[in-house]
Amino acid sequence: MIMKKEDLQALLNDMSLEEKIMQLVQLPGQTFEETAAVTGLADMEKAKKMKSLAGSVLGLHGADKIKAIQKEYMENHPHHIPLMFMLDVIHGHDTVFPCPLAQGATFDPEVARVGAQVQAKEAAADGVQVTFSPMADLVRDARWGRVVESTGEDPYLNGLMTAAMVKGYQGDSIADKEHVAACVKHFAAYGAAEAGRDYNTCEISEHTLRDQYLQGYRLPISEGARLVMTSFNTLNGIPSSGNKWLMRDVLRDEMGFDGVLISDWAAIAEMVNWGFAQDLKEAAALAMDAGVDIDMCTESYSGSLEALIKEGRVSEALLDKAVMRVLELKNDLGLFEDPYHGASEERYKEITLSKDSREKARDAVRKSLVLLENKEGTLPLSSKKIALIGPYVDDKDTHSAWAITCNKENNITLRQAFEEEFAGSDVEVKYSNGSLMVDNDSDLGFLKFHSDTFREDNDRLMKEALEIADECDTIIMCLGESLMQSGESTSRAKITLPQVQLELFGKVKEKGKKLITLIFTGRPLDLGDIPEVSDALLICWRPGTESGHGIVDVLTGKTSPQGKLPMSFPWTVGQEPLYYNRFNTGRPKPFEGASIFTSRYLDCPNEARYPFGFGLTYSEFEISEVKLDKTSITRGSSASDKAIASVEIKNTGAYAATQTVQLYIRDMAGSVVRPIKELKGFKKVSLGPGENSQVSFEITEEMLKFWTASNRFESEAGKFKVFIGLDSATENEAEFELV
Ligand code: BGC
Repeated sequence: MIMKKEDLQALLNDMSLEEKIMQLVQLPGQTFEETAAVTGLADMEKAKKMKSLAGSVLGLHGADKIKAIQKEYMENHPHHIPLMFMLDVIHGHDTVFPCPLAQGATFDPEVARVGAQVQAKEAAADGVQVTFSPMADLVRDARWGRVVESTGEDPYLNGLMTAAMVKGYQGDSIADKEHVAACVKHFAAYGAAEAGRDYNTCEISEHTLRDQYLQGYRLPISEGARLVMTSFNTLNGIPSSGNKWLMRDVLRDEMGFDGVLISDWAAIAEMVNWGFAQDLKEAAALAMDAGVDIDMCTESYSGSLEALIKEGRVSEALLDKAVMRVLELKNDLGLFEDPYHGASEERYKEITLSKDSREKARDAVRKSLVLLENKEGTLPLSSKKIALIGPYVDDKDTHSAWAITCNKENNITLRQAFEEEFAGSDVEVKYSNGSLMVDNDSDLGFLKFHSDTFREDNDRLMKEALEIADECDTIIMCLGESLMQSGESTSRAKITLPQVQLELFGKVKEKGKKLITLIFTGRPLDLGDIPEVSDALLICWRPGTESGHGIVDVLTGKTSPQGKLPMSFPWTVGQEPLYYNRFNTGRPKPFEGASIFTSRYLDCPNEARYPFGFGLTYSEFEISEVKLDKTSITRGSSASDKAIASVEIKNTGAYAATQTVQLYIRDMAGSVVRPIKELKGFKKVSLGPGENSQVSFEITEEMLKFWTASNRFESEAGKFKVFIGLDSATENEAEFELV
């Protein structure tokens, strides 16, 4: 039985000031495990004292361990209030699904929902009650390493995908033992970090903030995510954790969020580093004013709130509200009845990495792979003599750095999957790593990779690779960024593959064999000459546990690839930030009459090398002109006034395949300049060879609203273009008016 509001209030009334403050303090798991010191909490001895009252902990998992900690904690707590256990379960607990960016590539919210459901089930059995996911940050700059955690550069897609994740994590009730509470992060605009450098400042006009950056957070919040996390960045000069306008006016009042607002790791204390607060005490006061309920891993709240309240700088009523939100979350998780939230070693062992979960992860891999090139129908594979070359041939690090609980031994490599697939057949497959993963002395964040025998080792691998290249007719190059090159604090100013892999590619291409290139990556890359030289090119992202299986399913043609790029791939890093929904400028290219003085680069196209929404299948599709059932919609008159835009799509190729038909709209003139295209809908159609289908989209006034010069979300009368096509570069358009 969940506690009643009055019981919670009575509990709150009975708590001491210290007890209340400590509900707002989150400690790192290390404090409970008594291991090394961690950032933010300099004084470990003090942290240990704090642990008897701290309201929540992050980073722990393991049913027995958590049960033991919880039992001891509750016995010693004056009011026996349970501790709350949080962890980053981002794209997998044990069964690891493709990274969020790859999930964005599926254009299929159901994939995200199912993935989150599996993760929640495994994590909950393992003792986790809250996950710090989904990340709904809009990302436009491939230099930023955290793009791997986002579903991409489009706010509409982000909203749908992350809302589906919330649904999957939370289910119908977070009290359910197979579910966890979700936390939307990082509020707000963390993805706009200047120059793609992590933790950097963000300068965004209120218009762009509201029209673009805040959009992706809306849907997962309205889906009922129970927590929101502040971001590390400043937004127009104000660190998020102290931004009262952003947190109170926008997040709580406008967006209606009434759950727990937690700071990011040490973000309250970092307001001192930013030069926004003089000391931890001022930081605590500013964060409380802004409405941040939980201080993640610093001593700001624990060390200063009591004094701030006694001095009258922070009111006890404000404190009580924050504490009540934390108690309500605990109550809704059912922790007052079952403080372990169903954690059980037996159950965990029974359900984790189940056949069914692995099959779901495999399906997600198949749907997330993006085919960028397939010259003369190179894929699906038809060769009987294949060489797999490259550092990803048998590498188990196919998850992302944010699959922190992943045991990589469970990951299926390409080699394993090829061996399974072709055992006993007449297809001969040879394998060679060909090169090391990264260049010598690469900075990989947690470690600097160095090998004294780098050259010799690499030469040996290259020699072996070139030998097997001679013995086959088709080469599959398995290249990519290292696991450690995307994720938090992995910004890159050069977004190419490691040089050592490019050297390998350069030598292998000279063999003149059929070349299929697979790229494992957590971000869009500058692919150099790989697209031109390769006969086929498949972006595999960071696919997780079922990597090898899902990729082999696609390579062999058991299923056609269907992924679409969730972020633009550039020609070169100098184009970043790069996103399709940009403005036209006053001098777009081509610009008649003044062709030199246009908005362009002298040495590179403006457009992406591969645009948002792009991805091939094994088949060919023809799409008809856009038909509109009427050419005007009446503004405001009736909510039901809408136009129907439709196309006929036909599979004209030889394979059954699934296409993603995309709807974009352009507002031709507004009180504020509008993007050249914005995704407003998409539909998946599966068609066999020769089959066709009609795909229709409703266009409503609601879809035409934007943040206008009057500082409101509203529509403006005028002309619009509607585009329906297979990627964001489509020019298949029709016009209509809002009158
Ligand atoms: C990250 C968050 C994460 C938190 C807790 C921070 O460094 O920015 O995304 O949830 O750590 O692990």
